[in-house]
Amino acid sequence: MLSYRHAYHAGNHADVLKHLTLLAILQQLRNKDKAFVGIDTHCGNGFYNLASEPARKTGEAAQGFMRLWQRREQLQNVDLVGDYLALVAGVNPVDTGATIGNYPGSPAIMQSQLREDDRVILMELHSTEIEHLRDNFKRDPRISIHHRDGFEGAVALTPPTPRRGLLLMDPAYENKADYQQAIKAVRAVHRRWPTGIITLWYPMLGQSRDFSSLVKQKLGTVADSVSIELTVAPQSDEFGMHGSGMMIINPPWQLAERVNAALNRIRPLLQV
Ligand SMILES: C[S@@+](CC[C@H](N)C(=O)[O-])C[C@H]1O[C@@H](n2cnc3c(N)ncnc32)[C@H](O)[C@@H]1O
Repeated sequence: MLSYRHAYHAGNHADVLKHLTLLAILQQLRNKDKAFVGIDTHCGNGFYNLASEPARKTGEAAQGFMRLWQRREQLQNVDLVGDYLALVAGVNPVDTGATIGNYPGSPAIMQSQLREDDRVILMELHSTEIEHLRDNFKRDPRISIHHRDGFEGAVALTPPTPRRGLLLMDPAYENKADYQQAIKAVRAVHRRWPTGIITLWYPMLGQSRDFSSLVKQKLGTVADSVSIELTVAPQSDEFGMHGSGMMIINPPWQLAERVNAALNRIRPLLQV
């Protein structure tokens, strides 16, 4: 039984890290005149409303993306951050000032960067989320949508054609077994698709529940890999998720330098 709903967490500091990194990778893939494939194994529904009841209930977006949005005039010329803000502005029909409604999830960020010959494969297991995902993306012929387990689908659907592209794995980590499953799936995908850019998001939690070092230990030894992290508070069992990371296998040239430069500019705004 899946109980996680991304609507409660959309636009939090973890999404800021994940979506900045995703956008930077997609931009680099677009730089060459060759088609690419994007694979998103744990999609959610693709679009969120940061003014909705779930978002207001947790206040996570208010402490995350909204802090950047409120300073968008100062941030619009910061490399990558400006592009991210423009992307979010683009899914909102009117500039509503300090507040904002729509926020794009990872499938929408992938869609925003597609050219005519690029393709995207979306997966989601939750029976309600998959319906919203279908409603949001079924009219785009470049996108295929699967109601299936993303760990299994990641392995079954790789290597894709064409071979150039990226896979994003963004599990909810509702149970401890998700860590082992994610590590296993990423390794299997890398064996099947050695040139693919494979990214895994992981949370950084209080000491008693923190598996981030396991992820880094198991995947950081893959020949060409890097992890990019954003923390917003000191580690403590009381606080919960004080940060998160993106493990990237086969990162594009200077990806970490570019994303880290952007994070250095926004980190002070996101501190708790
Ligand atoms: C963190 S959310 C995804 C957020 C999304 N990647 C984004 O950035 O907008 C994780 C999603 O994975 C879904 N999920 C959980 N277990 C899954 C599985 N085994 N396979 C595919 N999706 C799963 C959940 O229903 C949830 O919608």
